[in-house]
Formats: sequence, structure tokens, C-alpha cells
Amino acid sequence: MIHDRERSALLVAAREAAGRAYCPYSKFPVGAAVLTDRGEIFAGCNVENASYGLTICAERSAVFQAIARTKGPLRIRAALVYTPTQTPTAPCGACRQVLNEFGPDAEVFSVCDGPGTIATILKDLLPQAFGPHNLNP
Ligand code: THU
Repeated sequence: MIHDRERSALLVAAREAAGRAYCPYSKFPVGAAVLTDRGEIFAGCNVENASYGLTICAERSAVFQAIARTKGPLRIRAALVYTPTQTPTAPCGACRQVLNEFGPDAEVFSVCDGPGTIATILKDLLPQAFGPHNLNP
């Protein structure tokens, strides 16, 4: 379980990232932040494209940022998704799969400007996950 102060830091980072989202088509900004086992936090936002299908979600953007900036293996302890909405947004299926690669035991939080927060774990979001263990049993 992560500490309240770690969760607060994740929220600050995710909210800041949401402010940088490039989402002229959906007008749905998303910010995400991941906490590593070294206590580092990396954030990302969604980046859309005129060729819609090329859009990358905030969660994968955060994971890729973590990979690019971390020497050695990456372990993600927690991820937080922030949307400036009244209902929380859980990571999409593709992002769940990518999170699983580096944080199969991660806690996952979805926070918005309304009262509802989702606090769960990746294993509940992606049961029976296909992962590295399948390839290297
Ligand atoms: N989006 C995310 O960044 N994360 C999610 O978990 C759900 C969807 C983005 C993709 C797209 O830019 C916009 O939200 C609307 O789908």
C-alpha cells in the first residue's frame, strides 16, 4: 500500500500533466502519473493526432516516460489517472496491459473533480493477465 503523501504527489503530477494534454479532437484531457519502487514519479498526458487512431493515452505516456528515464528494471507500485470531470476514468484496456508489464501488483487510482474516486489494483482491472511470465515460464 502506498502512503497518503505518495498518493498526493501522484495527484499533483497527474493534474499538472492533464493541463498539458493535447486533445483538440476529444476535448477530454487526461493526466496520469506512476510511482516506481525507487519512489520516483513520472507523469504523462494524452496526445491526440489528426489521424485519430494514433492517439496515445495519458497512462501509456506516463509509463513510457518512466521507461525513458529509469536506468535498470522498472517496477511500478502505483498509477493514478486524473480527469477534470465529475466521474472518474479508469485506464482503458490497452493501458491496463501496458501497466501490467511493469506493475502487475500496482495500486490504481482514478481521481476526478467530483466525489467518486476509484481505488483498486491492476489485478482486478486485468484478471488472468498475459504477461512476461507467459513467455518465460
Ligand atoms: N484517454 C486517456 O488518455 N486515458 C484513458 O484512460 C481513457 C482515454 C484519452 C484518449 C483520448 O485522447 C481521449 O482520452 C478520449 O478518448
